[in-house]
Amino acid sequence: YIDENAIRALPKAEVHVHLEGSFDLADLIELAKTAGVALPGPAATLFDISTHSNPEAFTLGTGGGAANGIGVTGLSGFLQFLDWQGGLVVTREQAARLAYRFAARQSASGIRYTDAIINPTHWHAWAGNVAGLLDAFAEGLAEAEADGLCVVNLCYSLLRTQSAAEGVAAVTWLAEARPSRVVALSIDGDERVAGRTGPKFAEAFDIARRVGLHRTVHAGESSGPEGVWDAIRLLHAERIDHGVRAIEDPALVDYLAEHQIPLGICPRSNLTLGIYPDLEQHPLAELQRRGVLVTVNTDDPAPIGTRLESEWSLVAGAYGWGMNELVTLAHASVTASFAPDALKQSLH
Ligand code: ADE
Ligand code: ZN
Repeated sequence: YIDENAIRALPKAEVHVHLEGSFDLADLIELAKTAGVALPGPAATLFDISTHSNPEAFTLGTGGGAANGIGVTGLSGFLQFLDWQGGLVVTREQAARLAYRFAARQSASGIRYTDAIINPTHWHAWAGNVAGLLDAFAEGLAEAEADGLCVVNLCYSLLRTQSAAEGVAAVTWLAEARPSRVVALSIDGDERVAGRTGPKFAEAFDIARRVGLHRTVHAGESSGPEGVWDAIRLLHAERIDHGVRAIEDPALVDYLAEHQIPLGICPRSNLTLGIYPDLEQHPLAELQRRGVLVTVNTDDPAPIGTRLESEWSLVAGAYGWGMNELVTLAHASVTASFAPDALKQSLH
């Protein structure tokens, strides 16, 4: 058993967490009230809210885990929930405050640096003004940093169902406008809905590489190993978000290990969304044993109902890891991050 205070004290980074998956219940209630929108279902927990926002598609039971039988629809229903809540944020002040509170919560878990994923498609009020949204986040994050809170940079995420032209337009704009704190191009969304999307976004990610933006790609969650290969070969991914289903292809595991391409693994998210039934069958420990640089992250902490320290504690308990293994995990999180070199060195 590892005390969560000891985990909080480790200098570490988080590399796979979505800003749109981080509204806490207090944020959400206040935003819904201001918007004059009813919260879907009983508001006992965000978990309940996410369940009730789309009861047909998102059929999570309160027991969690895959026993609830969510299959293909789990992730898509979940993404619809992110869409619904993103639509509640309409003013600059609201967006800046959310970003500030996000950084404060990261600090409360002892996280010193975060690569946060932001997918503008969820923030409907900002459809014509993504620059304004990013600027508001940057303001909140700068204020947080000035207050000594976690340093947070942003990964601008495309949605899998967007078109090739939308991807190119987004990255072309990023290259020209260079919005503050955006350090990477990302892609997320459900690959079972969108189908194979590597070829479609190859050009956008090629531009990202040429203009010096980092690349992080969701793959090997709603896709199998082929999605991870596409991320590496077609999208020049430097890091894979999830990547767990790489375990199904031994050559891919060897490749990831050889090239030290980090995986941003989110164990509880995988259980909640039904990718694996339990941690015993989850490949995290096996991937690490075979030399892959694994990190442990929260993905969408608010609706999934987790914190980084409880995630690490869960993993430690399941695999019999002690403090030494967690120090290794902390070190890997910093290595895997897109933190500036000076900050990386100070955290290593
Ligand atoms: N966006 C937010 N969470 C996600 C996940 N687990 N998979 C794909 N896209 C996401
Ligand atoms: Zn994710």
